Amino acid sequence: ITGVTMASREGFVCGGEEKKALAKTSAQPSSCSRSSIMSDSFIIAIHFGRSYSGYAFSLTAREAEIDPMVKYWGAEVGQKTVKTPTCILFDEHEEFMSFGYEAQRYYHRMRGEEARHKFFFQSFKMSLYGRVTSGKPMKALKVFTEALRFMKDDALKTINSSSGKVFNQSDFCWVLTVPAIWDPSAKQFMRRAATQAGIVTEGKEDWLVIALEPEAALMWCRKLPADGFIAENQGEVSLDQSPGTQYIVVNCGGGTIDVTVHEVLDGGALRELHKGSGNNMGGQSVDRKFKEFLKEIFGDALWEKYEREHPGELQKMMYEFTFSKRHDDEAEISCPYNLTELAKESGRDMERFFEGVRGASWDKGSIQISKQRMRSFFSDSLRGITNCLKEILRKDFHIDYILLVGGYSESETLRRHVINQFKGQCKVLCPVRAQEAILLGAVIFGTNPALVASRKSAFTYGVKTTRNFDPSKHREDKKFTTDTGDLCGDVFKMLVEIDGDVGWTETREFSFTPNNPTQTTMSFSFFRTERNNPQYVDDWGVEEIGSVKVSMPNTTRGRDRRVKLEIKFDL
Ligand SMILES: *[C@@H]1O[C@H](CO)[C@@H](O)[C@H](O)[C@H]1NC(C)=O
Ligand SMILES: *[C@@H]1O[C@H](CO)[C@@H](O)[C@H](O)[C@H]1NC(C)=O
Ligand SMILES: *[C@@H]1O[C@H](CO)[C@@H](O)[C@H](O)[C@H]1NC(C)=O
Ligand SMILES: *[C@@H]1O[C@H](CO)[C@@H](O)[C@H](O)[C@H]1NC(C)=O
Repeated sequence: ITGVTMASREGFVCGGEEKKALAKTSAQPSSCSRSSIMSDSFIIAIHFGRSYSGYAFSLTAREAEIDPMVKYWGAEVGQKTVKTPTCILFDEHEEFMSFGYEAQRYYHRMRGEEARHKFFFQSFKMSLYGRVTSGKPMKALKVFTEALRFMKDDALKTINSSSGKVFNQSDFCWVLTVPAIWDPSAKQFMRRAATQAGIVTEGKEDWLVIALEPEAALMWCRKLPADGFIAENQGEVSLDQSPGTQYIVVNCGGGTIDVTVHEVLDGGALRELHKGSGNNMGGQSVDRKFKEFLKEIFGDALWEKYEREHPGELQKMMYEFTFSKRHDDEAEISCPYNLTELAKESGRDMERFFEGVRGASWDKGSIQISKQRMRSFFSDSLRGITNCLKEILRKDFHIDYILLVGGYSESETLRRHVINQFKGQCKVLCPVRAQEAILLGAVIFGTNPALVASRKSAFTYGVKTTRNFDPSKHREDKKFTTDTGDLCGDVFKMLVEIDGDVGWTETREFSFTPNNPTQTTMSFSFFRTERNNPQYVDDWGVEEIGSVKVSMPNTTRGRDRRVKLEIKFDL
């Protein structure tokens, strides 16, 4: 719950019992209410991934004309990529130093003693809470804030130099993408980090839109012509967008596999059919398998020494592996200099390490890996993806498309696997710029967040209330007696149910009256649970998430006072 508005008119006091509940869809402007502020504003979308991060922008906000541009990274390391590694470096005073390729290169170049005093974090997106654990500890909020601040400043600089005009952050509507499986409190955390980073200022929180990664990618896929999809898929089809069409979007990222299900409504907007699901079997799980394999070949001691002493070199080897991962074929990975040196020091010839290893051999400075062996690195990850999709397809939907997006879906092995598993049931498509789809789509989403008309609530939310005691319904130990009769306390009054549809601009309104005619404050305690409709707020699985107290000093009208509670669910 992000916006709790207590509308208590003068002379009205807040108390206990709920009188009526009504839900209404208010005609509020959409989140980025640019039109009221300027006729044509601009959009910057930031994608903060577990392995790689980047941004895209548009200098027009008109949906029909939108042509998002992405920033390219990596010139300093001989790369040209649409994202930069999610790595950040701080000095010994916790002052931000650098981000991305630059941070990685700088850190790996430092000598051991110097590096020990720095704070270096990579792939930290999963460790959202408390302290980021990666070498020296630092507050997660600080790490995320500085990462976002870097992205913001870099984006403004890029736009400034490419357009020749001077902009500041308030000229833009900002879109921040997050995985669909993130908990609402994790989204809230990102909002806080974005606010601290100066992306949005107080009172203008609406200019920051949180987009779900798969949802953003879907926005991009909907814009694509038939040849915007990879040809190995089933030929000349662009995406059918007629009302009733259902899509599963699988965002295959470095860390997570993240899945959403949407249906096209009359008028073209989307409705979420199933709340975000997924697992952590993303592309990095394949990399992990590859590293385990190398460790087996070279032995624990040698490999661990290599990882410890030459992280920069290992990183380069992993870039090469990432490239090989895209093809469903045998691979040749050049063996880095220092790994070869360490192997020599151990007194064995390189060939000897590969004796008896199935699916890999040594060939003049390179490690040759068979197709079968390459595929074996994928098997756990592919199983994870299949299971996740099967679970959704078992439900009562009629899915037309599976869309594969995200950097990991550039892997042919992954795409072939999904096509083979599901081709009888639905069409499987993958956009050509799969890695950028989220970023480009997030910009489109920024033009009109109402493109997603409704989402599913991830929790049942409720508020603690009191009701007239009913012995046939209520537990005796919850009974208490007042001048107005027997009441039942701790009742969970549901505000929205888990998996319930919640509209984009929907505000739900509830009304409460005091229990006690002389009451001068009313407290609202909010709870959430993954259960459908618990009876009491202290039932199992119910947790408190916050509270508000309203002062109501004028008791002239006794119990005949009403408090209106308006709630907007930002899912
Ligand atoms: C208290 O409420 C009554 C009834 O609404 C109103 O007539 C009166 O002016 C209020 N008193 C104060 C001090 O606001
Ligand atoms: C934008 O460009 C102008 C002139 O080209 C320069 O003075 C200004 O510092 C730049 N602003 C940013 C944020 O880079
Ligand atoms: C940003 O630019 C606008 C005009 O484009 C200006 O009104 C505003 O004061 C600037 N804000 C900051 C923080 O520089
Ligand atoms: C081998 O490792 C050292 C120390 O990490 C590094 O300075 C050197 O550049 C590496 N050699 C090659 C060829 O990468």
